[in-house]
Amino acid sequence: MSDNAKIQDIIRDAATAPDPMEAPAYRWGILGAGGIARKLTDAVTDHTQSEVLAVASASSAANAQAFAQEKGIERAYGSYAELVADPDIGIVYVATTHSNHHEPALLAINAGKHVLVEKSFTQNLAQAKQVVEAARAKGVFVMEAMWTPHLPHMHVIRDLIKRGVIGDVVSLEADHGQKLTHVERMVRPELAGGALLDLGVYPVSFAHDILGVPDRVTARGRLRDTGVDGQVGMIFDYPNAQAVLATSMEAKSGNVAQIAGTEGCITIDGVFYSPTTYRVTLMDGTVIELDGTVDNGFQYEAAEVARCVAAGLTESPLHTLDQSLEIMTILDEIRAQIGLVYPNEK
Ligand SMILES: NC(=O)c1ccc[n+]([C@@H]2O[C@H](COP(=O)([O-])OP(=O)(O)OC[C@H]3O[C@@H](n4cnc5c(N)ncnc54)[C@H](OP(=O)(O)O)[C@@H]3O)[C@@H](O)[C@H]2O)c1
Repeated sequence: MSDNAKIQDIIRDAATAPDPMEAPAYRWGILGAGGIARKLTDAVTDHTQSEVLAVASASSAANAQAFAQEKGIERAYGSYAELVADPDIGIVYVATTHSNHHEPALLAINAGKHVLVEKSFTQNLAQAKQVVEAARAKGVFVMEAMWTPHLPHMHVIRDLIKRGVIGDVVSLEADHGQKLTHVERMVRPELAGGALLDLGVYPVSFAHDILGVPDRVTARGRLRDTGVDGQVGMIFDYPNAQAVLATSMEAKSGNVAQIAGTEGCITIDGVFYSPTTYRVTLMDGTVIELDGTVDNGFQYEAAEVARCVAAGLTESPLHTLDQSLEIMTILDEIRAQIGLVYPNEK
C-alpha cells in the first residue's frame, strides 16, 4: 500500500467528536443575558438533550425576562445569587464580560454548582487561580468555555498529528482579526476589553493545544486611545517549533490557521476556531480535503460538560484547569510585554 493510501486510511479512522445528542441531560442556568448566552442557549436547546432552565441578568430583571421569553426559558432572575440558589439547576454558564467572570464563577462554585466559564477564563492569572482553588476545594466541575478543542475538526487534527501524518510539527500560524471597534465590551478597559482577551485567546489557546507551553513568548502590540489593545503580534518559541500568532479588533482578517510538519501540512480555513473545512497537504503535493462544518458548534463544549459531570469528573481531560492556568499565564506575559494594564490592576 502506498504512503498516501495509508494516510487516507488513517484519516478515515481518525478520532471523531462524541455525538452531543448522546450526552446526558442536565438543567442549565445562565449568568449574563447577552450575545454569547443566546448562542449557547440555541446549542443546548437544539443540539443536546439538556435544557436551559433559567437565565439571570445582573443589570435588570426585565433583561432576563426578555431573554427568557425570546428563548422559551422557564425561569428569569434579576440577580446571579437567585439563580445559583435554584436547586433545580445543575450546571451554570458564566457568560459575562472578562472583567466579571471570576466573581460569578466563585458565586456558582460556592453554591455547589458545576460551572462553564466563558473565555478568556478570567481577566488575569491571579483571578484564575482563585477560581481553580475554589473549584478544587468544593469538588465541583469547572471548565473554561474555549469551544474549539471540542469541535469535530480539532478531534481529527489532534489525532492526525499524534499518528504522525504530518511528521514533527515545526511551525504553526494562526490569526484572529475582527472589526469590533464599535462594540462596547471591546473598547472599554474596565470590562477588560481589547483584542487579546476576546480574540487573541483563540490563536493563543490553539498554539497551546497543539504545541503546549512555550519556552519563550515575544509580543508586540498597539494600544488604542481608551487603553485597550487594538492589535497584537506574538511569537511562541518551543524547543523544536515556533508559533506565529496575530490578533486585531480593528480589521477582519482571514482567520485561518496552519500547522506545518516535516511530512506535510494542515490548513484550517477561516474561521479556524469554529466548525470549518480544512485540508492535509502531503509532501508529494497530494491534497486531502476534510469538512468539519456543523450547525452552531457550541453543543460540543456543552456536551463535554454534561459527560464529565455525569462521569464524576471535576475537569475535562480535553481542556483541563491547569491548561486554563497555563493560558492565563501566557496572556499575562503578553500583556506585560505590550503594557496592557486594566484600570482595576493599577
Ligand atoms: N465563544 C465565543 O465564540 C464567544 C463569542 C462572543 C463572546 N464570547 C465571550 O462571551 C463573554 C460575553 O460576551 P458577549 O458578546 O455575550 O457580551 P455582551 O453581550 O456584551 O454582554 C454579556 C453580559 O455581560 C454583562 N455586561 C455587558 N456589558 C456590561 C457592562 N458595561 N457592565 C457590566 N456588565 C456588563 C451583561 O450581563 P447581565 O445581563 O447580567 O447584566 C451582559 O448581558 C466574553 O467573555 C466573550 O469573550 C465568546
